[in-house]
Amino acid sequence: MKKSQSELTVFYETAHAELASALEMLAACKVTESPKQAYGYFMHAKDEYNHARSFFEMLSKRGKRASIEIARDFRFTPPSLITKGYISKKGFLIDTMKLKDFIAFVYTNELLAKSSFENILILVGHSTEEGRRITSIMADELRHHGMAKKFFLNHYSALQPWQLLIYRTKETMHNKGRKIYDANLKFLDRLLTPLYRALAYLAGTIAIKLNLNEFKREGKNLMNISSQSIL
Ligand SMILES: [Fe+2]
Ligand SMILES: [Fe+2]
Repeated sequence: MKKSQSELTVFYETAHAELASALEMLAACKVTESPKQAYGYFMHAKDEYNHARSFFEMLSKRGKRASIEIARDFRFTPPSLITKGYISKKGFLIDTMKLKDFIAFVYTNELLAKSSFENILILVGHSTEEGRRITSIMADELRHHGMAKKFFLNHYSALQPWQLLIYRTKETMHNKGRKIYDANLKFLDRLLTPLYRALAYLAGTIAIKLNLNEFKREGKNLMNISSQSIL
């Protein structure tokens, strides 16, 4: 993969992850009964929307420099949040997880997000405008991690650090699994696209050779047409 293409992939995937986080937080905000917690989720969602917007802008800047053929593969469509596995087909996490697991998920993922941004920071350079934006996003992620940690210690103080480590390992593996699934989809796409094209070409060739006059119904008594006919 060329450097410009791998950069597009990084910003494309990160923008998806950030937007998915925003939607997850908004879903959590809608169902929580505590006004204080709802406010926390809402502010968190707002941060994640801003992060997603920043990454979409960085993606768009690079997309404009790429050829149309390449840029086409990095267009955003909302359903890809589900097909790429950023949001589960089964529903939002707050609806499918226990609250304890949900907070542990936020706790571990915010930390993982922060460390994955360290690599993006190297990519864009610390002292650039984009570098400054990413540094400020990393500070937000650490703050989110801290908030989830505080909530955890208040509500589940019996939880041991090794248990959080298990959550973190599980999430790291889940993230890796999503990348493998995505790579498989791309591989299948590369494998099947020539086949689809060959079939379309074959169908087109057959259609050109067909005598379409036989399909004209004018002046024909449809009652006399055999029941086996495709007309
Ligand atoms: Fe974020
Ligand atoms: Fe975050």
